[in-house]
Amino acid sequence: MLRVATQKPSTLASWCCSAVRVRCKVNLFCDSKLDDAKRREELYRGSIFVYSPSPSALKLCEFAGELIEGAFHPHDPRRVQDHIPVEKCVEILADLKPRFIHHPRSKELIRGLLTERGCDLEKTYFDVPRLRTAYPSNYLASGIAYAFHPHRDTWYSAPFSQVNWWIPVFDICAENSMAFHPRYWSEAVPNTSDGYNYYQWNRNSRQSAAQHVKNDTREQPRPMVELAPDPQLRVVAQVGGVMIFSAAQLHSTVPNTCGLTRYSIDFRTVHLDDVWKKSGAPNVDSAATGTTLRDYIRAIDFAHIPEDAVALYYDGTESDFVPSPSSASMA
Ligand SMILES: [Fe+2]
Repeated sequence: MLRVATQKPSTLASWCCSAVRVRCKVNLFCDSKLDDAKRREELYRGSIFVYSPSPSALKLCEFAGELIEGAFHPHDPRRVQDHIPVEKCVEILADLKPRFIHHPRSKELIRGLLTERGCDLEKTYFDVPRLRTAYPSNYLASGIAYAFHPHRDTWYSAPFSQVNWWIPVFDICAENSMAFHPRYWSEAVPNTSDGYNYYQWNRNSRQSAAQHVKNDTREQPRPMVELAPDPQLRVVAQVGGVMIFSAAQLHSTVPNTCGLTRYSIDFRTVHLDDVWKKSGAPNVDSAATGTTLRDYIRAIDFAHIPEDAVALYYDGTESDFVPSPSSASMA
């Protein structure tokens, strides 16, 4: 059942999974006027927020779109799979993605976007924005364009206060978007995250993304049981529309069957107060070690999170820490 109710000052849609045996409910807030503190509380309860395009989000998409179009010229980036061999595409992505990720303009536009969304720039930290691609799966779905199986980011050593931001660069449809699997917000999934350590990943696996063209042999946290794909929620936002959700939300890449490549931007934030308090979403099944907290930079001046705050997350593996690769061509 999908129930939509108009509330002042925000619009809230509530997606109830009462048709399945397991009770679950995920609230979807549209253009909410909640302040950032209340929004984070809702996110930690499993709510999802969607916002209409704002000026900085549109500029970010425009900037990414120009880089993408320049890289694939003279082809339409959403149809490159019809025109160039996959190896050539991977070569282009291996140059394009780090250029966007580390461009100073990307960071400035993220700061503008966080301002528009009411975040406190003194206490909100973000990591570099990723440029994701979802090609038709018979073309490229591994390595640098990895099609993510159902996962929580907390299986990958994200803190439970992490908030994910996701923005389509070009028009998307339900068949090339991403999916949430709301019944698993509160239901544990047996998984292999206990074998994942973020520092080891940075050391061994991340930089090789572009080498995995046909299949991806890198060990990643996975469900150990067959999951029920439905009910699932796919949000089809406009270009520059922003979707925000908790790192503990189970989500996946939708198998791209629409014939058009999806390009999207995502980045993550944490609020320093929540880092200090170790607050956030409940942990139902994550056992990864290490932490991604050192990847975050403060929105106001791009300073890193104080190490004494990171120290609260030490788990005995911190001596393995290595900085994330600067040429991060992440999947
Ligand atoms: Fe994810």
